[in-house]
Amino acid sequence: MSDTVEPINWHQASGGDVRKLRDAFGTFLTGVTVVTTLDDKGNPYGFTANSFTSVSLDPPLVLVCIAKSAYSLSVFTKAKSFSVNILKESQGDISNKFASQSASKFDGVEITGDDSFGIPLINNSASAFLCANYNTMDAGDHVVLVGRVIKFYTVPSNPLAFYRGGYIKISAKEQPITPKKLAKMKVGCLVSDNNGVYLVRDKNNGTWSIPSRHWLENETQEVATQKVLSSIGISGEMSFIYSVFREDGESHNTMVFRGDITSTAMDSCGDLEVKVFNSTDIPWEFVKGNYTRSMLSRFFKEKNVDSFGVYCEPVSDGKVASITSDELMNP
Ligand SMILES: Cc1cc2nc3c(=O)[nH]c(=O)nc-3n(C[C@H](O)[C@H](O)[C@H](O)COP(=O)(O)O)c2cc1C
Repeated sequence: MSDTVEPINWHQASGGDVRKLRDAFGTFLTGVTVVTTLDDKGNPYGFTANSFTSVSLDPPLVLVCIAKSAYSLSVFTKAKSFSVNILKESQGDISNKFASQSASKFDGVEITGDDSFGIPLINNSASAFLCANYNTMDAGDHVVLVGRVIKFYTVPSNPLAFYRGGYIKISAKEQPITPKKLAKMKVGCLVSDNNGVYLVRDKNNGTWSIPSRHWLENETQEVATQKVLSSIGISGEMSFIYSVFREDGESHNTMVFRGDITSTAMDSCGDLEVKVFNSTDIPWEFVKGNYTRSMLSRFFKEKNVDSFGVYCEPVSDGKVASITSDELMNP
């Protein structure tokens, strides 16, 4: 995908349109943190900040910028310690709460008191850094709070992200492939055992092809491949995508999964003729389709060296991306 190139329109940063400058700053995607501390009477303070940056590993330093207009400015500049809590995707309401000037920001928010500093920590955040005040620097309409990280924790989670003035979700949840997204698709199985590859004969014209069927709406890849295998009376594990192509003259793409047979009951495949071929006895002239022949030929070569690729290109100029067994084991 290529970005459209717009003509550059420079703006003066000082004395110009502050909104435009804010908008430009807002194109930098950030996470969201809540920074907390206690005043000298032990009252908790906190504000939402996306200006958090890691600064140094040795010594471990982070920074966050607080606006001089913030109600809690003087508390934070005087504080000897503070915490930075990196919020999870599910903690947008906490971000909103601490972005307000409400006097009761901490009400209803689950807090853990840290044992060494007593600083309030937001429960269940993605990561938290307990910092000793290392330095504060005047910086225009903000003050930079630099903290030396004393302790931290982190848990695997999807972070809350902030972009162009709003929260966005950046988590990519894996979904089973369904043909809603893949219109007119056939699913094919390149299933093999020690003797070779399983092919099915077309009763009408005598040609051989890999077992396949139309991929029905809302069928997951697992269901679709298992139905293909059971139609020829075998079971197997079709774990790897191997090829996507469209044979000349066909109106559907075929997505082929590769795997090994786990059991066989060949008598249950009705009147279908199923046979196992190896690279020397396969009747190439009766294998249907240029792409299928080329895929099978590649398969036999790759099986020899136990190193498989993925072919992807429905029309022409297809490419095979190599996946070796080592890469699969150690991604
Ligand atoms: C996503 C987001 C990020 C923010 N980042 C900052 C920031 O980095 N520094 C800052 O001073 N205020 C930031 N704010 C605004 C403060 O959270 C807000 O002004 C808050 O009221 C300050 O609290 P206080 O006035 O009680 O001290 C941010 C607000 C939002 C919603």
